[in-house]
Amino acid sequence: MEAPWWREAVVYEIYVRSFADASGDGVGDLAGVRQRLPYLAELGVDAIWLAPFYRSPMTDGGYDVADYRDVDPLFGTLADFDAMVADAHELGLRVIVDIVPNHSSAEHPWFQAALRGEGRERYLFREGGTRPPNNWQSVFGGPAWTRLPDGQWYLHLFDPSQPDFNWRNPEVHAEFLDVLRFWLDRGVDGFRIDVAMGLYKAEGLPDTPPGKQAFKAESPIWGRPEVHEVYRQWRKVLDSYPGERMAVGEVWTDSAEDLALYLRPDELHQSFNFAWLEAPWSATAFRTVIDDTMVTGTAPTWVLSNHDVVRPVTRYGEGLVNSTTGLARARAALLTMLALPGSAYLYQGEELGLPEVKDLPPEVRQDPVFARSGGKIPGRDGCRVPLPWSGIAEPYGFSPEAVDPWLPQPPEWAALTAERQSSDPGSTLAFCRQALRIRRELRASLPDRITWLDSPEDALFFTRDSLTCAVNCGTDPVRLPPHEELLISSAPVNDGILPPDTAAWLRTP
Ligand code: NOJ
Repeated sequence: MEAPWWREAVVYEIYVRSFADASGDGVGDLAGVRQRLPYLAELGVDAIWLAPFYRSPMTDGGYDVADYRDVDPLFGTLADFDAMVADAHELGLRVIVDIVPNHSSAEHPWFQAALRGEGRERYLFREGGTRPPNNWQSVFGGPAWTRLPDGQWYLHLFDPSQPDFNWRNPEVHAEFLDVLRFWLDRGVDGFRIDVAMGLYKAEGLPDTPPGKQAFKAESPIWGRPEVHEVYRQWRKVLDSYPGERMAVGEVWTDSAEDLALYLRPDELHQSFNFAWLEAPWSATAFRTVIDDTMVTGTAPTWVLSNHDVVRPVTRYGEGLVNSTTGLARARAALLTMLALPGSAYLYQGEELGLPEVKDLPPEVRQDPVFARSGGKIPGRDGCRVPLPWSGIAEPYGFSPEAVDPWLPQPPEWAALTAERQSSDPGSTLAFCRQALRIRRELRASLPDRITWLDSPEDALFFTRDSLTCAVNCGTDPVRLPPHEELLISSAPVNDGILPPDTAAWLRTP
């Protein structure tokens, strides 16, 4: 039987407000996505995942949903959505949308009603005195509880404008099953589930042990066993539609074993494998992550970048003198990731080798993390700066006219536009296109396991029959393993010698 489409897919994450702006208001939108779909088809990805575009006050970039069944006017209309999906499908691209079941926006009608004292059992309200009901901290900093003027407290694991739903209430289940059907009926191919391990909280809402709020199963906040029943129900809905609809969970756990629980055959199809993204630039660390991932035997996924983390070009270059090392490593890590069995998630701009924008002035920063930490934590705006498409000055083709994009783009991005890189065979964009093309050609013939080959200590060599991948994380050049042909490398490779911070794909006998 042929593998389902998502098993070896390359999925491209679109953070809609920073991707492409067709309306000319400085904010990306669905019509902008639609216009740029041919670029994505040419890049060679199989699917797109759209971060939330639903009605929202945008306190947390749309992860604060006020209406799960409508498009925010900032991003367009439901008709724009339908037209975008139709074009995507026409181009052979699948469409995954985000679903945010842990919390709504405070502007959601249910929470508005709760503020008036109606239907509070849909959220987590508790009596309390002047102190919060327990010691839980918000992921964005500060207490996870906010007190209303009438004295009751409500729980928000994120911003106070994101009240947590009460998943012990059947009405919440019914609502989300209906929301799933709403988007499935509109033709989406899958869902990315936000904070998928967060929905249930331990009965009685006991204090967390002091210290770090680990994602362990023993935590009263994360990974409660009851959550699995939700995904069993969701799986039934997905399976009731034709065309291999799927779900990928944003599941943060402490171990690959805990992660595997979400991937049982009647639950989620995939989950993000954040261990790869969190690993430092080290052959040992990469090898551990790969081994841990492969050992669980469930549909592996790989991801280096998303709208919540510092871009890999900057992450891998942190503290280094040579300013080009970060990009070299990001390209090598990407090539390595694309050689592994399973599916890979790319984040917009990764194909352009964009760095994190670290010097955004405080007054333009919008991530609630910045404000809630009193400006101590920069937050995630630096990886959300609108994409540079063309031209030599802001907005670099992001918007049709000379409008200011919602976050300023740095002048250095003139050299990194998609247009400029398209005509440069040595660019990161050209490199990504080539890697994705080769991956497509080979993937059907490759086994879903890897075999490690002997390598020098700071390098990794692994093989999947006719494809061998070599990556050098050390400081000395290493000799490549025997091969018939060099298929692609992340930086020039000569005379069979792999320089530091470089990866290569080899055709092997
Ligand atoms: C994870 C999302 O990726 C992030 O952007 C958001 O802030 C939190 N979940 C809360 O919804």
